[in-house]
Amino acid sequence: MIIREFRRPDIKRVFEIEVSSFDDPYPSSVLLEIYNLGAGFLVAQKDNSIVGYIIFWIRFEDEGHIISIAVDKNHRREGIGSKLVETTMEIFKKYSVKTIKLEVRVENVQARKFYKKIGFKEDRILEKYYEDFEDAVIMNKKMD
Ligand SMILES: CC(C)(COP(=O)(O)OP(=O)(O)OC[C@H]1O[C@@H](n2cnc3c(N)ncnc32)[C@H](O)[C@@H]1OP(=O)(O)O)[C@@H](O)C(=O)NCCC(=O)NCCS
Repeated sequence: MIIREFRRPDIKRVFEIEVSSFDDPYPSSVLLEIYNLGAGFLVAQKDNSIVGYIIFWIRFEDEGHIISIAVDKNHRREGIGSKLVETTMEIFKKYSVKTIKLEVRVENVQARKFYKKIGFKEDRILEKYYEDFEDAVIMNKKMD
C-alpha cells in the first residue's frame, strides 16, 4: 500500500468511496473545489486501486484541520486510515502545525473510536452543527 498525492483522474474512485462512506457525501465537484482551493489531498493505493483518501488544510497558521477521511469498506481495519493520518501529520510537522482539529458526527461512534485510538481527544460539542442538525464533537490532538 502506498500513500500518494491525489491526481484529478482519481476523483471517480474517491467519489465512490465518499458515497459509500457517508449519508451526506460531498459532491465530486465540491471535493475538486476544495482541492483547487489548495487543500492537501492524499490517497491510499493498494494493488493499483484507490482504497482511501484524506483531505486537510492548515488554518490560523499553526492549526491543522482534517476535512474528510474515508477508507473503502472492504479495506477497513487494515491500518489504512491510520497511515493516511500519520502521513498528514508528517506534512503538518513540516509546516510547524501545533494542533490538529476536526469535527465528527456525535453518532459516528466508529470514527470517534478511530480518532481516539490514534491520539485525538474529545474537546467539546458543537450543537446542531450539521445540516440535519446533528451535533458535532470537536476533537483535537497536540503535535509532539
Ligand atoms: C474512520 C475510518 C476512516 C477508519 O479507517 P480504517 O482504515 O478502518 O482505520 P484503521 O484500520 O487505521 O484503525 C485504527 C484503529 O482505530 C480503531 N477503529 C477503527 N475502526 C473502528 C471501528 N469501526 N470500531 C471500533 N474501533 C475502530 C481501532 O482501534 C483500530 O485498530 P485495530 O483495528 O487494531 O483495532 C473508516 O472507518 C471510515 O472510512 N469510516 C467512514 C467514513 C468516516 O466516518 N470518516 C470520518 C469522518 S469524520
